[in-house]
Amino acid sequence: MANNTKKEVSIQKKKSVLFIASEANPFAGTGGLADVIGSLPKALAKSRSYDVRVVIPLYKDFSSLHRDKLHFVGNFNVELSWRNQYCGLFEYKYEGVKFYFLDNEYYFKRDGLYGFYDDGERFAFFSKASLTMMRYLDFYPDIVHAHDWQSALSVIYLKTLYKNEYGYDKIKTMFTIHNIEYQGKYDRFLLGDVFGLSDDNYNALEYDNCVNLLKGAMVYSDVVSTVSPTYAEEIKYDYFSHGLSPIVNEVSYKTVGILNGIDQTVYNPETDERLFANYTSEDLSGKKICKKELQKMLGLPEKDVPIIAMITRLVGHKGVDLLKCVVDDVLSEKVQLIILGKGEKQYEDFFKKVQDEYSTKCRAVIAYNKDLSSKIYSGADIFLMPSKSEPCGLSQMIAARYGTVPVVRKTGGLADSISPYNLERKDGNGFRFETYNAHEMLYVLKDAVFTYSDKKVWNKLMVTAMKTDFSWRKSAKEYIKVYDKLI
Ligand code: GLC
Repeated sequence: MANNTKKEVSIQKKKSVLFIASEANPFAGTGGLADVIGSLPKALAKSRSYDVRVVIPLYKDFSSLHRDKLHFVGNFNVELSWRNQYCGLFEYKYEGVKFYFLDNEYYFKRDGLYGFYDDGERFAFFSKASLTMMRYLDFYPDIVHAHDWQSALSVIYLKTLYKNEYGYDKIKTMFTIHNIEYQGKYDRFLLGDVFGLSDDNYNALEYDNCVNLLKGAMVYSDVVSTVSPTYAEEIKYDYFSHGLSPIVNEVSYKTVGILNGIDQTVYNPETDERLFANYTSEDLSGKKICKKELQKMLGLPEKDVPIIAMITRLVGHKGVDLLKCVVDDVLSEKVQLIILGKGEKQYEDFFKKVQDEYSTKCRAVIAYNKDLSSKIYSGADIFLMPSKSEPCGLSQMIAARYGTVPVVRKTGGLADSISPYNLERKDGNGFRFETYNAHEMLYVLKDAVFTYSDKKVWNKLMVTAMKTDFSWRKSAKEYIKVYDKLI
């Protein structure tokens, strides 16, 4: 009896957090955000101190592997200014985390996740529906943890429309910025007509004469976070903040930077089924096979020269211009270069041309291709990530985990996850350069190519990279500390 009572008390005491986000792996995603929402909740749930749930929209682009497993819970209506919209609710418990999916075909049955003229309205609906769902389920979490501008309104609504509503009034909020470039900026007219907020709220949301949802959530949330400690500092400056540095500085007293992890069970060269051969840091023979097969597959000579790889969106802030500037110097070395990615046409065209010119040394695959990306992460030797800015970045961690040594620019999460190799001290898990300068990058890249020729040293470096702890364990602990403090 006494035991039972104790158990009941501990069940009641379990605290809860609801993640509100626009994407989550393995269900629907376009980038790093989906990786985080697919893996951080799972790591938090393992701590057992929190009931962790996630809500995302039910898009048309939803993983067909999982669609049949969703369970229909019911439906409710969502008020959005003068609109009254249907919302279907589905749920699915996946790897210890309860996921909710919000269904409205008018808003979400479209090809792709974003890029529509009414994205503001679509994600206002999603944010409002996430809160309406709480009443429908009679589940009011202790904490709402919202991510990026698409769910910013959930925080804003909690602190405005819902601040005196029973159940909602005690919810604490954390807002994570995955990339400050995307802010959700809208004409003032939308404030009342779409978002359903009164003019009194304009000051809190206004920036540069627009409604800026990211700014609104930064102002209203109890804690703001970014995805690496260095990025949290960098965005205090104009160079990184896309205009928002005054607000970043204003809210710095309640801001933390917590480095993302990766799901080390998903990104694991020992078990990854996409690889030509599996391997571990103790036995790297499989990696040699991966390299040979990759060369064969792409029609590159099967030579023992270092393969430099880039897997990236081909856009400016990924530092593509730096490589563009010195690509001839890079390819004059005994190396092979593989580019995988899509993006701006100018870069796509440029790398296609380089491939034509250097047909025995360079391959540019203009695509998103998960299968090929695993084959490159495992088959390459050097992973280049010269980003102009990088809130966290996951590719450098994945590459390191597969023994492909990262060469990065020292910014954001790249600075926090990759430390420079030091021959004397024999530590470090990659190579770094500081200034956004093509020749500085070239110099460090050449150093990596040179180091590759010393097999003993290179092996040690690969093993250090592979053994770096990129798991969520440490970061999950930090999030829990923040949550605990909030409650
Ligand atoms: C964004 C950032 C990236 C980060 C990811 C997950 O995509 O650009 O650096 O790793 O979010 O937080």
